[in-house]
Parts: sequence; C-alpha cells; structure tokens
Amino acid sequence: METLTLTRPDDWHLHLRDGEVLKAVLPHTVRQFARAIVMPNLKPPVRTVAEAAAYRDRILAAIPAGQQFEPLMTLYLTDNTRPEEIVTAREAQFVKAVKYYPAGATTNSDAGVTDIGKCDRVFEAMEQADMPLLLHGEVTDPAVDIFDREKVFIEKHLIPLKQRFPQLRVVLEHITTSEAVDYVLATDRTAATITPQHLLYSRNALFQGGLRPHYFCLPILKRETHRQAILRAATSGNPKFFLGTDSAPHSRHSKESACGCAGCFSALHALELYAEAFESVNALDKLEAFASFYGPDFYQLPRNRDRITLSKTTWRIPDQLPFVDDGLVPLRAGEALTWKALLN
Ligand code: NCD
Ligand code: ZN
Repeated sequence: METLTLTRPDDWHLHLRDGEVLKAVLPHTVRQFARAIVMPNLKPPVRTVAEAAAYRDRILAAIPAGQQFEPLMTLYLTDNTRPEEIVTAREAQFVKAVKYYPAGATTNSDAGVTDIGKCDRVFEAMEQADMPLLLHGEVTDPAVDIFDREKVFIEKHLIPLKQRFPQLRVVLEHITTSEAVDYVLATDRTAATITPQHLLYSRNALFQGGLRPHYFCLPILKRETHRQAILRAATSGNPKFFLGTDSAPHSRHSKESACGCAGCFSALHALELYAEAFESVNALDKLEAFASFYGPDFYQLPRNRDRITLSKTTWRIPDQLPFVDDGLVPLRAGEALTWKALLN
C-alpha cells in the first residue's frame, strides 16, 4: 500500500462557529490537525481578550474525550478596537493574531472595519507587540468587479498599509490570485494561507453543468491561470506560503438558497485534498513543510512532534454530514478522493 507520513499539520485559518455547530464540526478538525487559528467572526464577533478567553473555553469543552487540540485565538478588528486591547492580548498568550474584515466583505463581517485608515493606532500597537495581522484582503466597493477585489485591495490598501507599518507581520489570508502571490513574494514580514478549494478549482467549478453553491466561497474562485499561480506558490517550498483551510460550515439550506452563503466545508478531508493538489504537480515531497512547518515557524510556535499517515485509497466523499437540524455538504460531496487519512 502506498502511504505518506507527515508531521501532524495545523490549520492556520479555520471557522469553528459556536454552540451546536461547534460540537458538530470540531471533531473533524481534531482528527487531522493539532492546532488551528480560529476565526473570530461569530455573531456577535470576538472583539476582546475576555471574549476570546470565553470562546476558547467553549472550544476546549467541545473537544472529544481523549483527543488533543489547541485552539489559537484571534480578535476581530473593528473601528472601535482600542490599542490597549493589543497589549492585553499579547500578555494573554492564547491570542495569536488580529483579524481584519472589511465591513460587509463576507459571512458575519457587518462589524468589520469601515475604513482601514481608522485603525492606525491599533496597527502601531500591533507592530510594537509583534502581533500578526490577518487580512481578508478584498475591497467591498460594489463598483469593483468581484473577481478583482483581491487585486484592488492589495493596490489600494495593503501596499499603503505596509508603507505606514513596515514591521507589522501580515498574513494575506486565502489568497486566490497571481497578484497576491507576487505581492507576498516581494514583501517582508508577509505570508499567505492557501485553501484546498483555491488549489483544486478554478471559477469554472461554480458553473459546472449548472449553478454549484457548494463551490461558492470568498474570495471567489478565480480563473485557471490564477489557480496555477497559487498552486506553484504552495508547492514551491517557500515558507511564506502555508496551509489554512478556511473550512467554513454552513447548513445545506443556507447554501442551497436564492441568496446562498459563502464558505466551503473541508475539515472532513482537508489533508487529503491538499495531497491531491500537491500530487497533481508531482510535489508531494513539499506537502509536509507547507502543512506542518511553515505555519508554526511564522507564528513562532514549536512544530508538532506526532505524525499522521495518508494512504493511497479511493473513497467516496459523503453527500452530506449530520449537522444540527440540517445537513452539512462537504467540498466535492459525492465524488471520489484518492487519498485517505488513517485515523488513530
Ligand atoms: C467565511 C465564513 O463562512 O465565515 N466564508 C468564506 O467564504 N470564506 C468567511 C470568510 O473567511 O470570508
Ligand atoms: Zn475564513
């Protein structure tokens, strides 16, 4: 049997939600990943260290008995975040980053920042505390084409931001374009996470034989040349690029709707999807560092010690998983996958 054994990976961009949804999705992540950077876009968002501590306790309480998992918490940046909160966060240790959502850009981002220029005192505090800034890097201007929103964000907001705060450590999250790859390569103290869906699919997947809501996430899938550019970056062995699934659970009925939610659920089979993407360009030898080394290195955390094995086995991804009072449709539901994580 062909197998692939790696240091256990971490997920550097994950949505766990709360309450019953948290209980439904967390076991999937815990099976594959040792740690995850947990997104703060709850309703209401996780804005303070006190709220992050309470959310962390709820996550810890939802870990299945006998399993190990460390949630790495983030704060949701708003127009009203105080610089003092950054100092408190640094002292608290369990807060690892601050997340910027442009107001209205994506799921649960209404409380996001209306004008990035308003946050300079917070960015100054973050630069001093060496607290990473995680960016949902899209403009929200409805006049900007949805496929250009990442590129325009880089030009209009990110380049000026890094000129004002060159020492600020930045993660451009879930990158989707060649412009994002080029920017990250050219900019100091800047890294990027990459999702499985953006490595495996171009925007054609959204319209394959009809409208496919389970391939809709934000930033939206881009054209094939961009997919190839981020696949090259992910498999290049450059430590600026590392794994972040952006696994984002939404119930079946909220995806299959006249106004469907953005987000793909991949926590079930994330590592297998990444393995397939790396294998497609004969780069399985680069998977371990992308999945398990470069993330902790960026966050200045120790690499994991235990290991996980994948076997070359074809299996069918379920049509849906149980989910509160509805189903949860995983990425590529009902279709085949040729790697399988061997779970201990
Ligand atoms: C995320 C969600 O559902 O919370 N959705 C998504 O399409 N990625 C939010 C986000 O990360 O943009
Ligand atoms: Zn996300």
